[in-house]
Amino acid sequence: MAQRLSDWSYDTALDAAFQPCSVENWKSRQGGGFAFAGPPSTIVSSGEESSVYSINLPSDLTTNLLMLFRWVHFIAAITWIGLLYFFNLVNVPFMKEIDPVTKGKGLPALMSRALWWFRWGSVVTVVMGLAYWGSIVASDARNASASSAGAMASFFLIWTITWALMYACVIPGKGALDKGPVLAVIYVVLFTIASCLFLRFNDHGWESNRMLAIGIGGGMGWVMMLNVWGVIWRAQKKIILWTRDNAANSSPIPDRAKYLARQTFLMSRANFILSFPVLFLMGAASHYPMFGK
Ligand code: HEM
Repeated sequence: MAQRLSDWSYDTALDAAFQPCSVENWKSRQGGGFAFAGPPSTIVSSGEESSVYSINLPSDLTTNLLMLFRWVHFIAAITWIGLLYFFNLVNVPFMKEIDPVTKGKGLPALMSRALWWFRWGSVVTVVMGLAYWGSIVASDARNASASSAGAMASFFLIWTITWALMYACVIPGKGALDKGPVLAVIYVVLFTIASCLFLRFNDHGWESNRMLAIGIGGGMGWVMMLNVWGVIWRAQKKIILWTRDNAANSSPIPDRAKYLARQTFLMSRANFILSFPVLFLMGAASHYPMFGK
């Protein structure tokens, strides 16, 4: 009898379900019958028609919960990174072009709205990502009868220290440390060391490519979120307030605004550049084996 696609039982529903199904694989699962993908009327299996267009949602709670995490993770990441790209590619050059009066009126209204979505997008992205990654670490560790505590601890320790060092570099706000290319070189070295340390600490042989790729890419995402809350938002809320006051009551904008604006710019640019390796590693987790034994 023809078997429906969804009737196949995988060893681990999630892992195997992501593997592409070759014609051989299909044939063997069909008990030797031939099948190929095409319009519904041409889907043939063991001489009978098979309905590939019928919907059969997975019914177990874990699969559904993880899918929900993934989906929300994507939506939040699009919101966050979309705004990050808008700030870097559109808003920064635009703000340089407009006159101070228009800027005084427009900036507070635009930025307070945009930054609300931006900072909460970062939280939802990271929380959903961590929930998903936690399940990957737990299942890797369980399969090897090992503990996932070390991997989780190394993640938070390594990447939080990385962020602290990154932030420390922009605090002086003068000299070589105020120059973008100098900071870029320091950050490349810093993130390379952090990534190597993460791989070094999680080198027991049972860690999967998914676990390690997200351990590094997600770690960079964690750093980006700390930048959003710890640097960008902290500075921007003051700048917005001062700009609003200046437009309404002509109260002078403190000198410190320039320093904070520069710090925001540097961290926002760093996040913009970090988003490239993050997205590469997110995509590599399930589709490009490069880590692990
Ligand atoms: C800048 C922030 C982030 C962006 C833009 C981002 C984006 C993405 C994208 C596009 C995917 C889909 C990859 C695919 O299915 O091929 C993904 C998957 C995933 N992300 Fe993120 N992510 C970010 C941060 C994080 C963080 C902080 C974590 C947690 C530590 C995380 C954990 C995950 C996990 C576990 C997956 C599923 C990987 C798999 O199925 O093998 N992400 N992310």
